[in-house]
Amino acid sequence: MKNTKRTMAKITKTLPQAIMERRATPSFDGAPIPTEDLKQILDAGLHAPSGYNMQPWRFVVVQSPEQKKKLRAASYNQAKVEEASAVIVACGDADGWRKDLDLMLQMGREGGMPESYAAQAKTSVSNFLSSFTHEQSHAWLNKQVMIALTHMMLMAEVIGYDTAPMEGFEQDKVHEVLRLPMSYWVVALLAVGHLNGPDKYYGGRFEMSHTVFGEEFGKPLK
Ligand SMILES: Cc1cc2nc3c(=O)[nH]c(=O)nc-3n(C[C@H](O)[C@H](O)[C@H](O)COP(=O)(O)O)c2cc1C
Repeated sequence: MKNTKRTMAKITKTLPQAIMERRATPSFDGAPIPTEDLKQILDAGLHAPSGYNMQPWRFVVVQSPEQKKKLRAASYNQAKVEEASAVIVACGDADGWRKDLDLMLQMGREGGMPESYAAQAKTSVSNFLSSFTHEQSHAWLNKQVMIALTHMMLMAEVIGYDTAPMEGFEQDKVHEVLRLPMSYWVVALLAVGHLNGPDKYYGGRFEMSHTVFGEEFGKPLK
């Protein structure tokens, strides 16, 4: 059964419009964001798919002027970090699965996960994730967390906000500002708010024939 607990805030754009019209916002007006809207954006991320449904993402929402200022300093002084209504710092917890595996399986069983799958997953998930090097763990977390961040970005656009995804930050400095546990890996920041001034130019996208193949590399999609 779908989770329909949260009621929808206003929808100002369809998903196709949000996808086609979204720009990486260059500057924000800094007006506070209503909690209900922020929760709707976050909730969209929490509904993203993830490997084994492990949901290894963790988010720190920064809204206070003091924390935004410090986060800006940890993000190569990018002004939009301080100007945004909220900055969602998207992290992955490399140790999350150790704590969450049983809970994930319990939720799964409640939703109809077959007992045979649950029993098998308990071993295979542990074996798979415990075999990772640091680099493999970070690569795995990047995949999972970026899907959740993208869900949030598009939900924000659909309900009338402007957004800016950011990778320009220093891992150690963000760790320090947010007092993150050692097992956390900062993947990206998502600034949310309302555009201030002119929007960014449209940088264009490559033709589909440049980036999409059919059946095998090099063959055009018919
Ligand atoms: C993962 C990721 C990281 C990015 N990091 C930054 C950043 O640190 N600073 C910035 O100004 N823009 C950043 N951008 C925005 C891109 O430059 C922008 O999305 C791209 O130029 C295409 O423009 P558009 O999103 O307006 O279509 C980032 C985008 C992505 C997806």
